[in-house]
Amino acid sequence: MATRKKVTKTKSKSAVKKTARKVVTLRRKKPAAKAQASKANGNGYPRPSSRPWGHAGRALDGVRILDFTHVQSGPTCTQLLAYMGADVIKVERPGIGDVTRSQLRDVKGADSLYFTMLNGSKRSITIDSKHPKGKEILERLVKLCDVLVENFAPGALDRMGLTFEHIHKLNPRMIVASVKGFGPGPYEDCKVYENVAQCAGGSASTTGFRDGPPLVTGAQIGDSGTGLHLALGIVSALYQRTRTGRGQKVLCAMQDGVLNLARVKLRDQQRLAHGPLAEYSQYGEGIPFGKAVPRAGNDSGGGQPGWILKCKGWESDPDAYIYFITQAPVWGAICDLIGKPEWKTEADYATPPARLPRLRKIFDTIEQWTMTMTKFEVMELCNKHDIPVGPILSMKEIAEEQSLRLTGTVVEVDHPGRGKYLTVGNPIKLSDSPADVRRSPLLGEHTDEILRKVLKYSDKEIADIKVSGAITPPEKPAKAEAA
Ligand code: COA
Repeated sequence: MATRKKVTKTKSKSAVKKTARKVVTLRRKKPAAKAQASKANGNGYPRPSSRPWGHAGRALDGVRILDFTHVQSGPTCTQLLAYMGADVIKVERPGIGDVTRSQLRDVKGADSLYFTMLNGSKRSITIDSKHPKGKEILERLVKLCDVLVENFAPGALDRMGLTFEHIHKLNPRMIVASVKGFGPGPYEDCKVYENVAQCAGGSASTTGFRDGPPLVTGAQIGDSGTGLHLALGIVSALYQRTRTGRGQKVLCAMQDGVLNLARVKLRDQQRLAHGPLAEYSQYGEGIPFGKAVPRAGNDSGGGQPGWILKCKGWESDPDAYIYFITQAPVWGAICDLIGKPEWKTEADYATPPARLPRLRKIFDTIEQWTMTMTKFEVMELCNKHDIPVGPILSMKEIAEEQSLRLTGTVVEVDHPGRGKYLTVGNPIKLSDSPADVRRSPLLGEHTDEILRKVLKYSDKEIADIKVSGAITPPEKPAKAEAA
């Protein structure tokens, strides 16, 4: 979409007149011409590509993104779009770059895994957005890109002079996508990080054990979760633009993103007004409910009771556990497997409502059985009977899991500064758009290339830009922020 190749050739005056007449004729006969096109192309759409699957380009080929993101939420979004084929140009502060380049460093002097795993398949250009020449370069980029993505603190983009109104004037097709901590309201000016969002979005109050404090989860639902939401907003806006011809603002607040992922708990909040939540184990234990949805430990979020159970080796292996779901249709199979065939017919156990007050006893009994096997043995046996179970996989096991390598979900890439590292590839698989997973760029690695090939600056102009200080670090580089 950003590639706008000039296809018109120089024509003689009479040829131009002829063409103009032809255009007029075609316009007049539009309905007939349209009908003909429909016949030829199937409702006016392009003919289906005859190229082999996966060889007809990538889903977002031609989309150019001005990536003004940093830390995790924004970079998650733009990395996914890059995997889908978009040309993502990451704009970073000269000499410093995205603060995560130096956070949680494991290899001295090399970009951290924090950075490399969130910025694959992108290009990096350094621009001081507050330098007059830097502003000029940025505006040139704005004119040539389809989407600007940012997750600065509230107001920072405006302070750079890049208000939506100004951007829209420079490029009416531009989609301006932002992650903020909160949407409009009392907290809109707050800076927000992952765990703040988990707490404000209702996840922390509903995670953990009833008798313990609220807990945050390891999955980055505030940052990466909101980045995912933003990516959906962007592709929707790109699609709408094909009809309207204009861009729009896309805003994802981290609080909203977390709440969207925690919606089942808002469901339970409303159910609570009509009585206790019978599938929560505290119901079976006779503990009264308060006014708000309680923390439910490892209770299943759905209507199928579940719990995490010990497996063989749990005494020394912190991950020797399995999630076990007592799904109603396979209750008979569970009873047979664990050696309790009588539970299939006994009134206290035969039906799901009868089992609800006895879940603790049921899971204790199943655990006696799971403890005799490894989590993988339990999984194999249960799956034979369609009993849903989930082995607790450690990150070590996931990193070594060959099936994830084969599907491209875990990918090994090579980096000039740090050597080989693992990254998470595209978890969304498109059959005609293979993911493009490449290493993250070095700071400013593509500055020259972008100035020359995308922005079409001449050698002389580039030389002037270099001495201006707009793309190079200030003489006394500011210290990178602490982790
Ligand atoms: N050239 C010059 N200045 C640049 C620049 C560039 N290329 N890139 C960034 N800056 C400046 C910004 O303009 C801003 O300056 P200002 O405050 O004078 O306007 C400054 O760098 C810092 O940006 P800011 O976003 O405020 O960073 P921070 O480290 O203070 O805050 C967050 C970090 C994440 C808390 C904040 O950005 C935020 O709340 N973002 C929205 C929510 C979010 O995404 N949080 C999750 C992060 S994973």
